[in-house]
Amino acid sequence: MQFRAPKGTTDILSDIATKWQYLERKATELFKAYGYKPIITPIFENTEVFQRGIGSSTDIVQKEMYTFEDKGGRSLTLRPEGTAPVIRAYIERNMNQLPQPVKLYYMGPMFRYERPQAGRYRQFWQMGVEAIGSDDPAIDAESILLLMNYFKAVGLKELILYINSMGCESDRPKYIQVLREYAGENRKRLCRDCQKRIELNPLRLFDCKDESCLVVMGDAPKLIDYLDEGCRRHFGTVKHYLEMQGMTYIIKPELVRGLDYYTKTTFEIVSPLLGAQNAIGGGGRYDRLVEEFGGPPTPGMGFALGTERLAIAIEEEGVSIPTEDKNDVFIAVADDVVKPAAINLLYALRSRSVGTDVDYMGRSLKAQLRAASRRGFRYTVFLGSQELEIGIVAIRDMESGEQQEVKLSELVQYFSGIMERV
Ligand code: HAM
Repeated sequence: MQFRAPKGTTDILSDIATKWQYLERKATELFKAYGYKPIITPIFENTEVFQRGIGSSTDIVQKEMYTFEDKGGRSLTLRPEGTAPVIRAYIERNMNQLPQPVKLYYMGPMFRYERPQAGRYRQFWQMGVEAIGSDDPAIDAESILLLMNYFKAVGLKELILYINSMGCESDRPKYIQVLREYAGENRKRLCRDCQKRIELNPLRLFDCKDESCLVVMGDAPKLIDYLDEGCRRHFGTVKHYLEMQGMTYIIKPELVRGLDYYTKTTFEIVSPLLGAQNAIGGGGRYDRLVEEFGGPPTPGMGFALGTERLAIAIEEEGVSIPTEDKNDVFIAVADDVVKPAAINLLYALRSRSVGTDVDYMGRSLKAQLRAASRRGFRYTVFLGSQELEIGIVAIRDMESGEQQEVKLSELVQYFSGIMERV
């Protein structure tokens, strides 16, 4: 029997994992520059965290959660997203005592039982930020600009930014009533799930991808036309801040996103080069979530991006990502007699952060050279009994083929000097 990775999951092999590390490093740099600090929450949470946070009538909670009972009879769920856990931690760890807003970022795997397809997986990685404690529209703009600027920093050019406002508590009841009436009039044209949504949670009608539902909802009244004065002003200021930074956007009134916690600003960034799953990141404001979890009234705003989709978009745009392999020096060993000296040299070089390796496969000298070249080493050092005796070794530049001699006693110095310069 051959084991395979579970459906909807994959192994991130070294060449891709190396690129991901670069993407994560760039994200970390930028997130920090915007004042965000790291947080690491558990991979699983008590199931109610997501039921409460994301909303029990959302697709995520209804259909997509990996929920299980542990041996102690607790219902636990592999996190399908990062916002609800961060808010749970904010309240549990009394982060409201810290200077506000508390700005946090996270990176890690999320789990959703979705139908796998290109760009959609059951285990996928997100990088996200949350700014908790401020209702300043400048925070909304900061979140959007941070994500856009990050995508640009890693080389993406073809991006579309959609924004919307979902209003606040006071705008909802009137709008929900109008939407229910509209959906009720069109009940027969809606799929069975959506017919249930009319009563249950009519905003979720906008999540459905069914052709007929999309047509009906395309003509539906939109929340953005029902904003009260305060929410309209808030949205206007967000747009103004985006424009001040030269950011172009498209207002998309159907952008309600698949999670119940959003209020006011929502946004999504799409790569037109991707297929059906073209949203590489998205987020929004969630001014009621902390209260929903039993905390004091506390606004919040954040986003998450999908690492796989980002990597696909980068590939599609033909952006090259620097590989960060540390294949600096390969020590080719002529025979077993000199192996101990080679091993000493290996650790001496590594201790100076020179990426060094030797052969562990008993290869001939010729085969060692071939392997070093395949692995992309920049230099090969030849070590044999004669070299040891006279204390001089030959170094080959693997790209140019040029060879030069260096004193064995100066070798570590020599390479650490080169590596410092690059
Ligand atoms: P989301 O839109 O559900 O938002 O997910 C964010 C991103 O994760 C998506 O834009 C997409 O790139 C990626 N993603 C989602 N599901 C999958 C999947 N099955 N396979 C691959 N990639 C996927 C959230 O999760 C919110 N917590 C974002 C947020 C933070 N809002 C406020 N703060």
